[in-house]
Amino acid sequence: MTRAKNLPSLLDKMWMDYVAINPMAKKIYDLFIQDGETVLNDHIALRTFNHPRVTVDVLAKPFIDSGYKYCGDYHFHEKKLYAKHYQHPDLTLPKIFISELKLEEFSPAFQKAVHQLIDQVPEGMEHEFDFVSAGRPWKVTTQIYNDLLKETDYAAWVSAFGYRPNHFTVSINGLKKMTDIHALNTYLKAQGFKLNGSGGEVKGSKEVYLEQSSTLANNIEVKFDDATLMIPACYYEFAKRYPMKNGELYQGFVAASADKIFESTSRGQ
Ligand code: NI
Repeated sequence: MTRAKNLPSLLDKMWMDYVAINPMAKKIYDLFIQDGETVLNDHIALRTFNHPRVTVDVLAKPFIDSGYKYCGDYHFHEKKLYAKHYQHPDLTLPKIFISELKLEEFSPAFQKAVHQLIDQVPEGMEHEFDFVSAGRPWKVTTQIYNDLLKETDYAAWVSAFGYRPNHFTVSINGLKKMTDIHALNTYLKAQGFKLNGSGGEVKGSKEVYLEQSSTLANNIEVKFDDATLMIPACYYEFAKRYPMKNGELYQGFVAASADKIFESTSRGQ
């Protein structure tokens, strides 16, 4: 696998890796391009654990070193997550949204299983510039995946996929024609894509300055140590931002909406 040593090559590597396991996102992206659109990414989302070796702050380091600034944090009590978002002075670059699972809120067996995964990460690997695109740095069995899944699908996802984008998000503000999120959703459904209906297809509103929707994650075959499983991979998200009272576009996130968006990788839907 090629290594990324600077921000443009890292963002490129993350995208290539994302579409490789998420053909549905590539199809939607290609439809926009065929339609003459320019696709800008609103944000890229990463997932991790609050284990000291791989916290949000550890994963954020390559972005901070590349000019990104911390811009806000979010608490998801029910999902037992904490997240931060980072922004680059060049607003055409995607915001980076990184969440971490609060391990102490899970069972001792669950915590032990996660520690056993992280203990396999070679020393210092987490500080490499492109660790956020390293893929799965540990061996994991279907048994561990299924055990983690019983307590939260978030941890099961990380155990199976490791460090790589959980989703990319198209900036609806950057599109020329498809500027209404409801029209965009109707268009995507007509093309045969399934949307995440948890909390309604559109999360948020003009009143909170942010509307979001997302596809459901597609299932892919993932090789584990002992067997292969068909499991939910990544999803594609769409975000429309509105100007605040000062006229500037809101750049933050809405916890209540993100809470529902996390469910795009759940098996229940
Ligand atoms: Ni998102």
